[in-house]
Amino acid sequence: MITQRHATVAGVGSVLPERVVPNEWFESFIDTSDEWIRDRTGIAERRFAVEGEATSDLATEAARRALEEAAVAPEQVDMLICATLTGDTPIPSTAVWVQRKLGIGAPAFDVNAACAGFSYAVSTATAFIESGQAETVVVMGAEILSRVMNFHDRTTCVLFGDGAGAAVLRRSEEPGVIGSVLGADGRSAEILIIPGGGSALPASRETLEAGDLTIHMPNGRDVFKRAVVEMASACRELLEKSGYTAEDVDLLIPHQANSRIMIAVAERLGIDRERAVIDVESVGNTSAASIPIALDRAWHAGRIREGDLVLLASFGAGLAWGANLVRWTGPTP
Ligand code: ACO
Repeated sequence: MITQRHATVAGVGSVLPERVVPNEWFESFIDTSDEWIRDRTGIAERRFAVEGEATSDLATEAARRALEEAAVAPEQVDMLICATLTGDTPIPSTAVWVQRKLGIGAPAFDVNAACAGFSYAVSTATAFIESGQAETVVVMGAEILSRVMNFHDRTTCVLFGDGAGAAVLRRSEEPGVIGSVLGADGRSAEILIIPGGGSALPASRETLEAGDLTIHMPNGRDVFKRAVVEMASACRELLEKSGYTAEDVDLLIPHQANSRIMIAVAERLGIDRERAVIDVESVGNTSAASIPIALDRAWHAGRIREGDLVLLASFGAGLAWGANLVRWTGPTP
């Protein structure tokens, strides 16, 4: 008898750093206002990591919480994947630092698809489980974006926050992760970019002084439009190939970048506001961490029930985007 191998989400966890940064904080050094930021983005405050805190510290705590909820011991984990664009160190990967902090002896690596990283990581983990190479995978999205922000640039620095989320994916008889759709368009690489710090433009005094080691977004409106179009079309494609419609979706969790983007995506899909998680107000845009944080908060707020169909959608630099469709089974009993 052929036994199908599927992956399910057995537990989730998230963590935000303690330092709260309200919109008013920016008013003292850039020409902005709490009103503008709330109106245009839906963000009221975000969290910033404190000095000495690294991305793997947040990822480790989120993973620890997800493992506890899934009732999985460290020795049962056979892979760790961390989606991040703000890793602790160029090498080793952030997933390796987490592996060390959790005392897990398993393969570990990072995925960089910017704000779409968690979609890519969930898809990757699912493929490992379905192919039989892994049984239990910890998938994390973790960022300390406050270290790559230009605090003189009002068009970007008010948008981002720090945090981490994690999910434990386990082998299951029935599909939890029903499917994924991923996409990318390198032709638009420059519209959202950290130009320096890599091999193309290595870190130097000049690149530091020119602000090349921070996030550049020369045309936020174009990013906005593409985010709406690509997230909605990835969701449509995924629903269609999985044999579902938007009507069947119990909860849409889009990348938490901007409430206006999320509302537009939900509208395009015909998903009403009650079925969409818009949880950016006190968190900000945490890039690869945004979906697992929103998922964890929605789950623990009682917005997801066992058996619900949950649709995750992401978009970010690359451009890169993705969607994952999950039948929620909840923590392992
Ligand atoms: N405070 C006050 N005014 C500002 C600020 C600010 N923080 N930022 C920009 N403005 C000004 C602009 O300079 C412009 O002024 P002007 O008309 O005198 O030139 C005016 O506000 C309008 O600017 P727009 O860029 O047209 O404003 P928009 O309504 O598009 O909102 C925003 C800007 C919030 C950046 C929006 O375009 C957006 O959310 N884009 C998506 C960006 C994003 O989320 N990127 C993150 C990574 S990708 C992702 O996660 C999806």
